[in-house]
Amino acid sequence: MSESITTRNVTFKVFRFNHETDYLPRYETYEMEVTSEEVVLDILNRIKWDHDGSFSYRRSCRHGICGACAIQVNGRATLACKENMHGMIDLFGTEITLEPQSIKRSMKDMIIDKGDFWEKHEQTRPYLISDVDEHPEDEHIVTPEEAEALLEADLCIQCGACHYACPVVQINDDFMGPAAFVKAYRFEADVRDDAHHERLEEMGQAGQGVWDCVKCFECAEACPKEINPIEKITKLHNMIFDEGIKNNGVAERHAVGFAHSIKKHGLLDEGELV
Ligand code: SF4
Ligand code: SF4
Ligand code: FES
Repeated sequence: MSESITTRNVTFKVFRFNHETDYLPRYETYEMEVTSEEVVLDILNRIKWDHDGSFSYRRSCRHGICGACAIQVNGRATLACKENMHGMIDLFGTEITLEPQSIKRSMKDMIIDKGDFWEKHEQTRPYLISDVDEHPEDEHIVTPEEAEALLEADLCIQCGACHYACPVVQINDDFMGPAAFVKAYRFEADVRDDAHHERLEEMGQAGQGVWDCVKCFECAEACPKEINPIEKITKLHNMIFDEGIKNNGVAERHAVGFAHSIKKHGLLDEGELV
């Protein structure tokens, strides 16, 4: 027997901004009755269809595949077509604020300029780089174990939720961000790729690469596909060490200092590192 549909009254405070006409953003309030069957995207649709046709947001697949509909609900990264509205009310109560992923990048309401996200994505060279034999005698078979090594990095839908939740992205324009690291890992872990050294050098550069991650876990919390970028960042750390790539940045010197301390004393003496 299916559960009966329930309704709850909600006050939505919705971010509005048009970069072509507005100097400052504003918030508009909508009182709505929300059913237990609706997801956040249904609310965005209803605001547009029933209240204000100029309200703008991105959506396409409605099935958590295209990554277009990522916004923030009460400051929490949310894939609008995936999150049940009553679940959000259970978390935050009946006053719900809808905002774009990044307020400073808003172009129109929920639509942001994701240019920085795509630039970082491109910087990872997100494709297989391989000297392909034009006349191979055998297939290049990838074993199930080798495919397994990609982990779930292949499931990324480029929604940007982790990128815009990352505090380092917010203060450092050069930092590549968690989604780019996930993408870099996806190709570094691929046995068919021949650009390991070059890509790892890019990922290891001080100021932009994996050593500038502060391991705050915001990206893992934000990801709607449960990808855990930090695990991939840690694997990239190890790959960079294994490849012998050095940049003499703060984080690298710290790691070398830790290893030296353990070798010398048999335990970590942090006082010696200061
Ligand atoms: S763990 Fe690292 S990459 Fe993830 S949000 Fe924090 S600083 Fe950014
Ligand atoms: S890693 Fe997760 S949160 Fe980040 S872009 Fe990919 S799917 Fe979105
Ligand atoms: S509309 Fe495609 S992921 Fe939400």
